[in-house]
Amino acid sequence: MGGILNSIHRFFSEMSRSSSPNEDYINKLFLWFLLLAAIIMIIIIVAVLIGAIHYRSKRHQGEPEQITGIKWLEITWTIIPFLILVIFLYFTVRFMKDIDQPVDKDQQADLIITARQWWWEMQYSKYNITTANELHIPVHQKLLMRVESADVIHDWWVPELGRKIDAIPGTSNYSWLEASDTGEYKGACSEYCGTQHAGMRILVISETKNEFERWVQEQQKVPSLPVDSVGQRGMRLFSERTCAGCHSISGIVAVSHIGPDLTHLASRKTLISGVLPNTPKNLYLWLQNPQKLKEGSHMPNFILSNNELEALVKYLEDLK
Ligand code: CUA
Repeated sequence: MGGILNSIHRFFSEMSRSSSPNEDYINKLFLWFLLLAAIIMIIIIVAVLIGAIHYRSKRHQGEPEQITGIKWLEITWTIIPFLILVIFLYFTVRFMKDIDQPVDKDQQADLIITARQWWWEMQYSKYNITTANELHIPVHQKLLMRVESADVIHDWWVPELGRKIDAIPGTSNYSWLEASDTGEYKGACSEYCGTQHAGMRILVISETKNEFERWVQEQQKVPSLPVDSVGQRGMRLFSERTCAGCHSISGIVAVSHIGPDLTHLASRKTLISGVLPNTPKNLYLWLQNPQKLKEGSHMPNFILSNNELEALVKYLEDLK
């Protein structure tokens, strides 16, 4: 019994975990719906049990009296569900109004999120920063996200920070993002988008205003060029082996946005859209054979030698 209660408690605390005002609304609504649905279910179970036990047919009783239509009962069981639905509709619309506050036509989004197979491009319009898969935000600040897609339909969802929002090619969807606590929040693409749908994770890092500003300053810096010979070799390889054909790194001739911007790769916690922790070892394995770690990824295998791999890893892992 204790185990079951424990599981129920865990279920509810997991379901209602929230770190944003929007998610609080969603949780409240969900729990009310669930509570009412549970009450209705209990009433039905009790009625069925009474019917089955108390009114079961006795031996040799023959067929019971047949009743066809009781007007007052039918009216009652039409009106009650109707009222329940009206109440739900009222609260749904009210909370939708709070969660999806209207966006002015000329309002500039703070964040532009572009979903791609299979990673996220994140741009901060005000700060002129482009990053990937990891979003730093200041705590208690309401940010407007513009969510788009460069290929197929994806869906942005970080459960603790509020609603889902579809990323649809050719159109822009807007959503508000606000964290009420500092910390890390995990999310993932929530619309099936191909082989690596599951490898399209999101990490949102909510920080104090100071921490966020420091991060912005770091991101705006052009990374310094490598001073050691291995790193310099890595930088040369980056241009020669056509990495620069897809990725951009500010400060060198690499401006393509087909793949993630790598300007401050070393400052990120994860690699390959959240699939692995960002360590030199994992980056080495990724560059050695991308398809092994993320099958279907658009990152080609350049069949690099061990020396080349080491040089590239050194160069990229110094991009703080
Ligand atoms: Cu992107 Cu599923």
